[in-house]
Amino acid sequence: MSRIDELLAAMTLDEKIGQLTMVSAGMAVTGPVVTGGGTEAVRRGRIGSFLNLWGAETVHVTQRIAVEESRLRIPLFFAFDVIHGHRTTFPIPLAEAAAFDPDLWEETARAAAIEAAGDGLSIVFSPMIDVTRDPRWGRIAEGAGEDPWVTARLAEAKLRGLHGADLSAGDTVAAVAKHFCAYGAPTAGREYTSADVSERALHEVYLPPFAAAVAAGVVAIMPAFNDLAGVPMTANAPLLRGLLRQELGFDGVIISDYNAVAELINHGVAGDVAEAAALAIKAGVDIDMVARAYERGLPSAIERGLVEVTLIEEAVRRVLVLKERLGLFDDPYRRGIAGGAPGHEQRRVLGREIARRAIVLLTNAHDLLPIAEEIRRIAVVGPLAEANMLGPWAGAGRAEEAVTILEGLRSALANRDIVRAEGVSAGGDDVSGLAAAIDLCRSADLIILAVGETAAMSGEAASRADPGLPGRQRELCEAVLALSKPTVAILSCGRPLMVPWLTDRASAVLVSWFLGLEAGHAIADVVTGRFNPTGRLPVTWPRHVGQVPIYFARRPSGRPAAPTDHYTSKYIDESVTPLFPFGHGLSYTRFTLANLRAEPAALRPDGKLDIAVEVTNAGARDGQATVFLFIRDPVASVARPVLELRSFARIRLAAGACETMRWVLAASDLAFLGPDLKPRLEPGEFDIFAGESADPDRLISAKIRLTI
Ligand code: BGC
Repeated sequence: MSRIDELLAAMTLDEKIGQLTMVSAGMAVTGPVVTGGGTEAVRRGRIGSFLNLWGAETVHVTQRIAVEESRLRIPLFFAFDVIHGHRTTFPIPLAEAAAFDPDLWEETARAAAIEAAGDGLSIVFSPMIDVTRDPRWGRIAEGAGEDPWVTARLAEAKLRGLHGADLSAGDTVAAVAKHFCAYGAPTAGREYTSADVSERALHEVYLPPFAAAVAAGVVAIMPAFNDLAGVPMTANAPLLRGLLRQELGFDGVIISDYNAVAELINHGVAGDVAEAAALAIKAGVDIDMVARAYERGLPSAIERGLVEVTLIEEAVRRVLVLKERLGLFDDPYRRGIAGGAPGHEQRRVLGREIARRAIVLLTNAHDLLPIAEEIRRIAVVGPLAEANMLGPWAGAGRAEEAVTILEGLRSALANRDIVRAEGVSAGGDDVSGLAAAIDLCRSADLIILAVGETAAMSGEAASRADPGLPGRQRELCEAVLALSKPTVAILSCGRPLMVPWLTDRASAVLVSWFLGLEAGHAIADVVTGRFNPTGRLPVTWPRHVGQVPIYFARRPSGRPAAPTDHYTSKYIDESVTPLFPFGHGLSYTRFTLANLRAEPAALRPDGKLDIAVEVTNAGARDGQATVFLFIRDPVASVARPVLELRSFARIRLAAGACETMRWVLAASDLAFLGPDLKPRLEPGEFDIFAGESADPDRLISAKIRLTI
């Protein structure tokens, strides 16, 4: 008998349910601790995993009880949200996505895994791969933006980094892809509310990143909090058991979201905790995170005939298999490095690199940036210049080690006179410092406005109905703009902020998201020109909240927008175009694209398409271009989006240099889901587009014909 069979044969029902029970640790002054009878419950085999318990010594103490004092000596899992770095806080995922660099995405995940494992952790609740097209939803900060193809690539890269080459190696962690699925489509952008998307949108937009994660070997998945067309994901048997397990072949562990099993009662699909527990386990949820609904509800669910014990045993087996795969039976303490993994300082270097690669330069009128030598006095105003830039899931990051915008600017521009005033508070109504801030600006050669959101204004449970500048920040900006001096706005945010009045009038605007520990240095690198910006928007940036959802892969209308024709698809009070398209991002040089070729012109279904485009650095500085490759199927049995992303790539070019970028697409990359939602290839013409963004006016194109 295998170890797992032996354990299963020896376990009581309570011990089985214990393996499916994840509890949260409490926090004490010294850090996370086991509270409220937790130690005794571990000793009795009633807990299988901990959330929020980390730190090699703390983990060691608790794990020792499980493996030395419990009857069956089964090691515990220790799980934590390692969303954008662990001890070394990297940029939020939306910012990281802006680098469009899968190797870097993998590198930061690898670094986070090393640190997390060093802190005794075995499971991380990441990657978050919810596609979203709604910046009202605060969790847009946690994902890769609007596009399923990009999100799928990010999922694969993150999994390579977190899982490493061998899951049992000791410096790896089990990844939990989340939140399955359509969590990124909450009604009206409001957190935790229903999603109700079509089957087609589900299969074309929300599922592909999860399918990619399963294909890449993800070992755990978390169902989303939301209901999908009335069926809460925690109880969604057709999608969890049917689609995920049977169709996609996922055989890993499904871990509920926080308290989600008990919340099935609030959703209105379970009458009591026994029904809730029965629904979740029947749907395929193996681990109950913190609700203790399995502990409270499964015994009576069995008695009432709502659940078969075999379902519980299957779930326990999956949990034990993962513990075995992680090597926990042989090395329950993992690397267990007291004080965390060494090398934090080196990882800060990576943190600075990814942070500057994440910054997106939105505008730069008259090449105001990089800051010229003649600029001697700089006023840094606004509430975000000294704020914590760690972002909404700072993990084990330490705010006191983070570099603020002001600190970064002061150290990079030490020979300039930098003066500082807050002006207004980030939220609320405090404008008491406004007049003094404007006075300070009068004597400055350049004003830097550090405005935007604080970390708590984005992320989970931070939906915003009006995603502009919070509080009275606009008043500060307007007063500064009225001085008509060179003004740079730095937008700290976890989502696109709809501020056309600012992007139109400030001399330069850059998006600095939440860049993590090295935020200040990275921003200084960009504004001083030490680093030529390369970040590109992973999400379409709306002008107005009323345009949401706005995204490049829209379907064509029967009545395309025409400004002079009333009965066309448009607004009578706002433009239909975004403020900035997906992929937008300036550099201190400029690039031109020419001679897009796609061959052969007549493609067979088993053929390959060779695509080439010439890219020239037409400016005076060396720089990096990012080129996006889109397709369009203009006539198909199901209307296809006007643009579908199929690839992106980056190229470094010296000033004046020209090189050819190449891609190979398979004919199958032209397939789509037919009326029956099954993949199909239809003959006919296809457009191939290349561009630095999804701006339709700046794409170059070629045509090919698929013959079947
Ligand atoms: C979030 C998850 C997270 C979990 C554990 C929940 O509120 O939705 O993404 O992993 O908490 O912290």
